[in-house]
Amino acid sequence: MANDRLRWNNKYLQEAYKLPRKPSALLAKNKSRLLKQSGKRALDLACGSGRNSLFLARLGFKVDAIDISDTGLRQLVQCARQENLKIRAIAMNLQQVILPRARYDVILNFNFLQRSLFAQIENALAPNGLLFFESFTERHMILQDKKMNPAYLLNNHELKSAFPTLEILCYRETDCAEKSKGARASLIACKKQTTS
Ligand SMILES: C[S@@+](CC[C@H](N)C(=O)[O-])C[C@H]1O[C@@H](n2cnc3c(N)ncnc32)[C@H](O)[C@@H]1O
Repeated sequence: MANDRLRWNNKYLQEAYKLPRKPSALLAKNKSRLLKQSGKRALDLACGSGRNSLFLARLGFKVDAIDISDTGLRQLVQCARQENLKIRAIAMNLQQVILPRARYDVILNFNFLQRSLFAQIENALAPNGLLFFESFTERHMILQDKKMNPAYLLNNHELKSAFPTLEILCYRETDCAEKSKGARASLIACKKQTTS
C-alpha cells in the first residue's frame, strides 16, 4: 500500500494530473440535479487532486475528500484555500476506512474500485442521498490491449447490482475507442427514505 501512495504521488507531480482539471462529464451533466439536492454534505472517495471535490464545493457542498496520495491532496487544499471552499482533505488508505452512517447527501466514486466499500457506501448515504459511481470495466483491458489487475476492473453488468438497497436513476456501460476514455460503467443511484 505504501507503494500505491508513492506511485500516485509521482503521477500527481506530472503535468497531465495537475489542477486545473475538468470535472467528470457525468457530474457536470448532472449539475442541476446536484443543485436541487437539499443536503450539502458530500464525500469524494479516492478524490486524487480533487477535480470533482472542487466542482461540488463550488456548487455549495461541504466536501470530505479522501485519498492515499498526499501530493494530490496538497494541490486540492491549495486550490480550496484560494477559493475559500469548504473541503476537508483526508490522507488515508481506504482499505482501512470506516465511513459514518447516514452522513452524506452525495457520495462520489470515480475511477477507483474497492469492492469492500460497497456496503459502507450504501450505509454512509443519508436518506435521499445520491451516489455517483463511474469506473473502468473489464472491457477496458481489451480496448487498451494491455494487462491490468482485474481486481481494479468492474465485471460487465456488475455495477448495476452492486448497491441493492439503492434505487438506480441512471446506468450505462460504454466503450469508447479513444484511448483515454476506454470502457466504463456509470451509475447514479439514490437512497430512498424509509417509512416506518
Ligand atoms: C484514477 S485516480 C482517480 C482520481 C479521481 N477520483 C478522479 O477521477 O479524478 C485513482 C485514485 O485512487 C487513489 N487510491 C488508490 N488506492 C487507494 C487507497 N487504498 N486508498 C485511498 N486512495 C487510493 C489514488 O491515489 C488516486 O488518486
